[in-house]
Amino acid sequence: MMLKRKKITARGVGTTFVAVLGIVALAACTTPSTSPGPSDTGGGGDVPELNAESFTPDFSAMEELKGLASEGKGLIGVLLPDTTTSARYVTFDAPYLKQAFEAAGLDSTQFKIDNAQGSASTMQTQAEADITAGASVLLVDALDSGSGAAIEAAATARGVKVIDYDRLVKGGAEDRIYVSFDNVKVGQLIGEGEVSCIEDWKVAKPNILIMNGDPTDNNAKLFAEGYNGVLKPKFDSGDYVKAGEPAGTWTPSVAQTTFAQQYTANPKINAVVTPNDDNANAVIAYLQSKKIPAKTFPTTGQDASLSGLQNILKGYQCGTVYKPIYLEAQAAAAAAIYLRAGKEVPEGLVNGTTRDDTAGTDVSSVLLTPVWVTAENMADTVVKDGAVSVSDLCIAQVKDACTEAGIK
Ligand code: BGC
Repeated sequence: MMLKRKKITARGVGTTFVAVLGIVALAACTTPSTSPGPSDTGGGGDVPELNAESFTPDFSAMEELKGLASEGKGLIGVLLPDTTTSARYVTFDAPYLKQAFEAAGLDSTQFKIDNAQGSASTMQTQAEADITAGASVLLVDALDSGSGAAIEAAATARGVKVIDYDRLVKGGAEDRIYVSFDNVKVGQLIGEGEVSCIEDWKVAKPNILIMNGDPTDNNAKLFAEGYNGVLKPKFDSGDYVKAGEPAGTWTPSVAQTTFAQQYTANPKINAVVTPNDDNANAVIAYLQSKKIPAKTFPTTGQDASLSGLQNILKGYQCGTVYKPIYLEAQAAAAAAIYLRAGKEVPEGLVNGTTRDDTAGTDVSSVLLTPVWVTAENMADTVVKDGAVSVSDLCIAQVKDACTEAGIK
């Protein structure tokens, strides 16, 4: 699956840019790329070779990048999308990215983490501010590919390196890399989780409403590919009925309205597939308002949010896809630190490719592994990793379920 990728060095964007645009800020470009050997990824002495497996909960791998971090120049700007479609951006991404940069020795003037609060024009403004402030690398978690591609084109024109963070920007910068999870696998875990929950909760005639994520997010398409692949044989054989697949969204209130309309029109619906905990939470709130009992109506989710984990313990959600964001944050921060120092991102760190149909290219990618979390493995995964504290998780309503699941 690993294709021979193009070298991603500062020189990869072309000394032409430097010559033509006279960008002085991209001092990184002054380091020529020699043919990289195992410990030489771009000239200028030994460069640590991190790979996709290097990262751990204690962030120790980032400390190996201290030399590179002090060699690099310019700001690393991080552009996160919103605070409402998932708790992850505030609870996990922002703090873990900060921790990763700091563990590598960057100080607060050398990186900046913004959140666009759901507005593409705000993200554009934040990107421009970063570039004006001398950014050498941007990490873009775009609201949609169109606005992301515009940001990346502007960045590239100024010699700024670009990393697609979590979401692929279709038609994005030619020389970018992509850091994310295996998003088709995320969808497969959701599909398989739904199937085993339908068995466990003995749902006799499953009528499943498929509630996709926002169609402007390439991830939503990949998640759907994953769960539809698992569920299609069940629909084809008549074991399950597909009750519908309304227009996708990431906005919880929209998901709730959509669900209410569908459920009112078709009360046979007795299961939901959604790739997001906050959307599931909105559906579950509606189900509870209708007095639907626990462990009768399977729903799914993603992000290991506090509400998602509690809904699992309450018996309203089958499981959640846990993506250890401390891995994604470190991988992205590491890639940014290599690029900022004018080095190539090591082969071992880039462990796959992702197709960008719009650009017609395979984008070099760091793809990390997601985990399906249910009550059974909650203690050994999210709780063990410190992604949630027991005191936050095990509130009164779920205290007994926590005890039963061995969470303490
Ligand atoms: C992310 C998910 C998140 C969703 C909504 C996706 O691109 O991968 O983790 O739940 O966006 O923000």
